[in-house]
Amino acid sequence: MNALALTDDIARHFGRARESYEQAARLQRLVAAKALSLLTPTAGLLLDLGSGPGWFHPKLKQHCSELIALDLSHDMLQKTRAAQQAVLVVQADAQSLPVASESIDKVFSSLMLQWCEQPGLVLQEINRVLKPSGSAVISTLLEGTLQEFKQAWSQVDQHQHINQFLPLGFYQQLERQYPHLGLQLQTETVQLEYQDVLALARELKDLGANTVTQGRNNALTGKQRWQKVQQAYPSRCIDGQISASYQVLYLTLTKQHSES
Ligand SMILES: C[S@@+](CC[C@H](N)C(=O)[O-])C[C@H]1O[C@@H](n2cnc3c(N)ncnc32)[C@H](O)[C@@H]1O
Repeated sequence: MNALALTDDIARHFGRARESYEQAARLQRLVAAKALSLLTPTAGLLLDLGSGPGWFHPKLKQHCSELIALDLSHDMLQKTRAAQQAVLVVQADAQSLPVASESIDKVFSSLMLQWCEQPGLVLQEINRVLKPSGSAVISTLLEGTLQEFKQAWSQVDQHQHINQFLPLGFYQQLERQYPHLGLQLQTETVQLEYQDVLALARELKDLGANTVTQGRNNALTGKQRWQKVQQAYPSRCIDGQISASYQVLYLTLTKQHSES
């Protein structure tokens, strides 16, 4: 699938999930709260990249004087508009921001970056739009996320059912390569419990996080195959539930003053 078709697919899946998203957003709540604690509490103009339905905007509004919401998905932005927290709601790709250079005080972006083909480009774009001394907090998912689900599927077929997430080393390399971004990295492992593998798959679908970006699988997933995945799932809790791991990266970026 080419990059444009993939972007459309991601936007469509998230758009379909606009009504179910907030209810399913367990990981998103934990991660956004932690990311917010890393955000400098000053006034100014804040840009929320990949804002989803805007459920987090009342909290973000306490950290800025004005808020701009930006997302790929038109449908998600309809929800954001209805919440009436953002002064501006923009449908765009975070890899190419339709925003003037040095016009934004702070950028917040929770769990969007892993959907972008070129995360390095997103960080460069964030740096471009920030005013000197402006800062950004970004959370994303790393390799190792949903590894139990991936392992279980690998016992059943050779298709790709779970997205590939970048390793921490990718961001450590960016930190060295672009010292002007003033990047700082923090990692956290979050474990969530599910009744069974179907409940896990349903939650991903309700979030709209069910686009497989590489080597997508068009095979049908019938009842028997799900039973096999359930049997092969490596991590069980005492109460019979399954546990899924999410490897979360929090990035902070501080725009440096230019030399001249
Ligand atoms: C998992 S949701 C996170 C939403 C919200 N930030 C939260 O924490 O609940 C990811 C959002 O990023 C958006 N998104 C994905 N790729 C994007 C891109 N390249 N540019 C802008 N938004 C994007 C999706 O449409 C979706 O609304």
